[in-house]
Amino acid sequence: MTMPATFDDWLANSNAPEGVVEVLTVLGRTCAEISTVVAGGALTGVLGASGVVNVQDEEQKKLDLITNDMLTEALLACPVVAGVASEEMDTVQPGTNADGAWLVLFDPLDGSSNIDINAPVGTIFSILKSPNAAPTEAAFLQPGRDQLASGYVLYGAQTMMVLTTGQGVAGFTLAGDGTWRLTHDAIQIPADTKEFAINMSNRRHWAEGVQRYIDGCLAGVEGPRAKNFNMRWVAAMVADVHRVLMRGGVFLYPWDKREPNKPGKLRLMYEGNPMALLVEQAGGKATTDGVQRILDVEPTQLHQRIPIALGSANEIDQVAAA
Ligand code: AHG
Ligand code: MN
Ligand code: MN
Repeated sequence: MTMPATFDDWLANSNAPEGVVEVLTVLGRTCAEISTVVAGGALTGVLGASGVVNVQDEEQKKLDLITNDMLTEALLACPVVAGVASEEMDTVQPGTNADGAWLVLFDPLDGSSNIDINAPVGTIFSILKSPNAAPTEAAFLQPGRDQLASGYVLYGAQTMMVLTTGQGVAGFTLAGDGTWRLTHDAIQIPADTKEFAINMSNRRHWAEGVQRYIDGCLAGVEGPRAKNFNMRWVAAMVADVHRVLMRGGVFLYPWDKREPNKPGKLRLMYEGNPMALLVEQAGGKATTDGVQRILDVEPTQLHQRIPIALGSANEIDQVAAA
């Protein structure tokens, strides 16, 4: 088989601004390094908890911290980066580059609970334009529709990077020689599906509309939807969204009534926005509740949480109608 195009060639032919190309190059290189670190597992002592709790009150794993440091260091060393923000850091980190023009937000290790069981994990990233070279937190609070690029890397059976610069969605596979190769061009999410992803154990906490929607799916051919559904839940959003991009489906982490100050589990800036841009660029819908577009949510806090319902367009309409 002839080797597909490299990430560098693809980037050179994209219409992304030069600085965004530079940032994506750094992200590609660093995530390839992260892939090796993740693969080391028990042999290199990277598994297990760190003993530290993050700003969201979640216990950080060793790999949360290692990957966060790798990305922060690599990005702040990049001359065009004005600052970074991460799920694992309380505050934004402004750069010291006079030419800094871009902000990078990331979830360095998504699906941390999968690390110790050797199940898929990922990295999610989002790129925004910086209003100045020394950004404060306010500079990062831009709606998702203003993202110049977003993507994720899935450390799974293969390591893959899936990204958009606003002109469709492309997927790259990490080759043995350390280069990313274009293996999935113009990814499209089918409008219809028979597959949903949700953490069913939270059913009793959901709003009635979501309960009705899922109950309708579970009722199969005898129910209101008149078809049988399949369910999947990897517990790493990257892996669940990747499946949606590859073969359709819907992914929900809905509002639930457990903690009134947390209107959802997932984070707008590091998970919701980057995934919403990818899903819309692939022809799907990305909403908070079936209706409200995630990309139009005006952020008020760096670590804010939102409910998420995204995936196959016609099925998201069913979530809205339930
Ligand atoms: P993170 O590891 O970055 O905190 O994210 C985990 C998220 C997301 O990836 C996944 O969809 C969800 O949490 C899993 O939640 P449950 O533990 O409720 O299954
Ligand atoms: Mn995450
Ligand atoms: Mn994470």
